[in-house]
Amino acid sequence: MISGPASVRERRLWMRTIAIVNQKGGCGKTTTAINLSAFLASETRRVLLIDMDPQGHATLGLLRDPSQLEKTVYEVLTHEQGVTALAEIIVRVRENLDLAPADVLLSALPEKLRETPGKENKLSEVLEEIRKDYDYVIVDCPPSVGLLTFNALKACTEAIIPVEPSFFSLQGIARQMETLDLLATTAGHNIKARALITLYTGRSDFAKAVAEEIRKHLGDRSFNTVIRFSLKLPEAVGHGLPIAEFSPRSSGCADYRALAREVLADEPPKFAPSRVEEDPEEAIAPAPAAALEQAESPLEPRMQVSPPIPVIGEGLFTVETPRAREEANSLPPAAVLEQAESFLESRMPAAPPMPINGEGLFTSEAPGAREETIPPALAAVFEQAESPLERRIQASPPMPVNGGVRFTIEAPGARSVQLAADFNDWVADEMQSRDGIWTKVVPLPPGRYHYRYVVDGGWQTDPLNVHLEPTPWGGYNSVFVLEGNNGNKVH
Ligand SMILES: Nc1ncnc2c1ncn2[C@@H]1O[C@H](COP(=O)(O)OP(=O)(O)O)[C@@H](O)[C@H]1O
Ligand SMILES: [Mg+2]
Repeated sequence: MISGPASVRERRLWMRTIAIVNQKGGCGKTTTAINLSAFLASETRRVLLIDMDPQGHATLGLLRDPSQLEKTVYEVLTHEQGVTALAEIIVRVRENLDLAPADVLLSALPEKLRETPGKENKLSEVLEEIRKDYDYVIVDCPPSVGLLTFNALKACTEAIIPVEPSFFSLQGIARQMETLDLLATTAGHNIKARALITLYTGRSDFAKAVAEEIRKHLGDRSFNTVIRFSLKLPEAVGHGLPIAEFSPRSSGCADYRALAREVLADEPPKFAPSRVEEDPEEAIAPAPAAALEQAESPLEPRMQVSPPIPVIGEGLFTVETPRAREEANSLPPAAVLEQAESFLESRMPAAPPMPINGEGLFTSEAPGAREETIPPALAAVFEQAESPLERRIQASPPMPVNGGVRFTIEAPGARSVQLAADFNDWVADEMQSRDGIWTKVVPLPPGRYHYRYVVDGGWQTDPLNVHLEPTPWGGYNSVFVLEGNNGNKVH
């Protein structure tokens, strides 16, 4: 039998906080956040999933009708609309599983808190109130380094870094780990991070080699579980369901169940609820090495039988006393993060429709602007981030570039994305995709424009632009203003 929530409550003296983080988009953060949370909840852990991404994908993936939301993480962190406690915005989505939802308004947070001291501790502060109510807090991070991600990292003591095996994976993980190490050395905030290989097809030797390289390189800083490519996972998200409810016999389900078991195996043993019993049906969970070998091909999804997964007793998630955690959290981080934050902001183009925030650190095309006050360790992280190999377009609101205004939207799984706007008479123009970022540069004179993206035939506003206007036919358009040569602003 599985231990009941009551016994969990009586015995537990800890709350685990896990950020799902990677500044790269489309690597499986949200899919991991949703499905890990759901599996932990089904093992009677009381779980709160916090959506810290203005794109609100975790919210969309769990709520059938997010348009009904009135209050979100934004209101809690800014105390707007009289919201002062996390409890006021939390939505129950399943037994043992609660959601702190987000929407595009969250992208305004960095601007809103620009002058607020301790702005990077807002999330960690509000978590204090709910410490007794949850066993796990899982935070889904945006695909960028900035105030939102800093808030998530400051609030968490563990991190999972989902990684899709690709040419840039190792560099990406190294950079992410360095950002975390930097938080540890400069802000005294230790995070135990582990990489999780996701979207693994195993079809190409290249993917296999990269996955093996990651595991060799990181050792126990990577999970044994590998999340195989499984079309059921995007489908489940599309239906607003965790994979266990949508397709319990899929490889995606087996893999996330295996991940949850690895995470559960690291609960501080003294206070852990009784262990979950083996369910013979779950023997399909992939073993680490076996998963690499036997990954399903996306074209031929089929079940794989593999040996039971080993339980990891030690590794990165070591036992932590509540006291040690308190000490780590109480160290003042502010100075360094302030520096980092101002540096991040200085890198944003002074240009127009970049209205919103300090998120999207690496979107800037503006050269120079490096401040002398950057801590050397941070500079090293940025240096690496700026290496030519890594320089690639990130999604942002419309941004003036050579040759016009660049429109971008992140839609890694999409088959086609178009741009429709008043400047093209709402005739949808094809956009080009690279690494899941869809782009189009349009030559435009100064003016005020309305636009929308059409993703696989569905119309949507720009998830990174807070400026919306209702249309006469219902729904909204995104809006931006392109001013003359000297500075452009969104209104
Ligand atoms: N293991 C997987 N197999 C197939 N598709 C996946 C898998 N993991 C994620 N996806 C899909 O890839 C896209 C990006 O995943 P997502 O979790 O949203 O990444 P992120 O949050 O890092 O941007 C989504 O369409 C998602 O449904
Ligand atoms: Mg996401």
